[in-house]
Amino acid sequence: MGSMPTSHFSGLAAPPRDEIFELLGQFRRDTYPERVNLSAGVYCTDEGEPMPLQVVRQAETAIYQAADPHRHDYGAIEGDAAFLALARDFTFSTACSADRVVSVQTVSGSGANHTGARFLADNLRPRRVWLSDPTWVNHDLIWQTVGVAVHYYPYYNAKTRSFDFDGMVAKLEAEAEANDVVLLHACAHNPTGLDPTQEQWKAIAQLCQRKSLFPFFDNAYQGFASGDPDHDAWAVRHFAQLQGPALEMGVAQSFSKNMGLYGHRTGAFHLVTTGEGSMSAARESITANLAMIVRSEFSMSPRFGSDIAKTILGSKALTAEWYTELQVMSSRLISMRKALYDALVRLGTPGSWVHIVNQIGMFSYTGLTTPEVVYLRQKYHIYMHSSGRISMAGLNTKNVEYVASAIHEVRSNPSVMTSA
Ligand SMILES: Cc1ncc(COP(=O)(O)O)c(C=O)c1O
Repeated sequence: MGSMPTSHFSGLAAPPRDEIFELLGQFRRDTYPERVNLSAGVYCTDEGEPMPLQVVRQAETAIYQAADPHRHDYGAIEGDAAFLALARDFTFSTACSADRVVSVQTVSGSGANHTGARFLADNLRPRRVWLSDPTWVNHDLIWQTVGVAVHYYPYYNAKTRSFDFDGMVAKLEAEAEANDVVLLHACAHNPTGLDPTQEQWKAIAQLCQRKSLFPFFDNAYQGFASGDPDHDAWAVRHFAQLQGPALEMGVAQSFSKNMGLYGHRTGAFHLVTTGEGSMSAARESITANLAMIVRSEFSMSPRFGSDIAKTILGSKALTAEWYTELQVMSSRLISMRKALYDALVRLGTPGSWVHIVNQIGMFSYTGLTTPEVVYLRQKYHIYMHSSGRISMAGLNTKNVEYVASAIHEVRSNPSVMTSA
């Protein structure tokens, strides 16, 4: 018997682990009865249970009942045209004409970010991409993967716990160059929960126009942030309807949160062109280039989730029901912000907590420090990201007092952390 050959992979360095999924694994193994999961961005009911939307159930039933013999067929590489038209209109409404937008179906919002990044890296060839500091962890990884230099603009002012508009504009004004991509969160910024005001969005759009920067919107929370999809799409639509000059831009769309289709990987990448001259030939080759990326990586996107989204968006009655459910989800999150804030104020917890109610969307950037986060996990089995970001979806009327008391203990008596 000869000696075992050395593996090609034995010296492989392990990349950093994804903290959120790591925490989720730890939480699932934790048997402590009062454990609380504030890490993952997945909506839960007040009972702490997942919530398949009623309207999604209706769409599922309709799909099963129709029993279309083609329902398991391969789809088109660029995706389902009917789904894409509905997804596009949900995003842009009448802000720009449909023929300015080229859309391709993707593996949810992550896939949309990646497909857009790959397309722009190859065809716009930006020198840099500008990400907000901080941002959703995957942005950095996605843009590094396509070989574009990642730079950051200030976004969060830790002192005031507010959006650092002046810092953002000053940085881009001084250092961004024509063709650089600027990644923007369409609404409910992850992780800070802080969005620009409409006046600030206008100024950011003007900056992009003036300096020929290429905006790339990550639109993962439309309708989920405020409960009103039109309100949440304001920034994207403002950029799309600008004239003199019209802006080209990318939009990565996800139906994970707003339809609760997390595991079905339902989304789209939309490229908004200027629409100048004869775009029809250009549209064809843009679509073909996007399709080539899809083909080489996964051939086509999954169809069950997009069939559901198409069924809902294609029916006025189901869309109205969906909007009602969006209201239910977003108001529960808003009420949990208030409940946590009220409890901390009532307990007299040191620090200011008003930012919790001023932030929007799935997440709150609490201002808790990493040692505090670690202590809360070890002593109270409360799981949250080391940045102090919490998912409001993990809070409910049964655990919010428990969480507030734990925060109160660690904040009022920091020495508990060293004596633990
Ligand atoms: C900012 C942001 N973008 C994109 C996504 C993509 O999610 P998915 O790939 O599930 O659509 C998320 C999910 O947490 C997110 O927070």
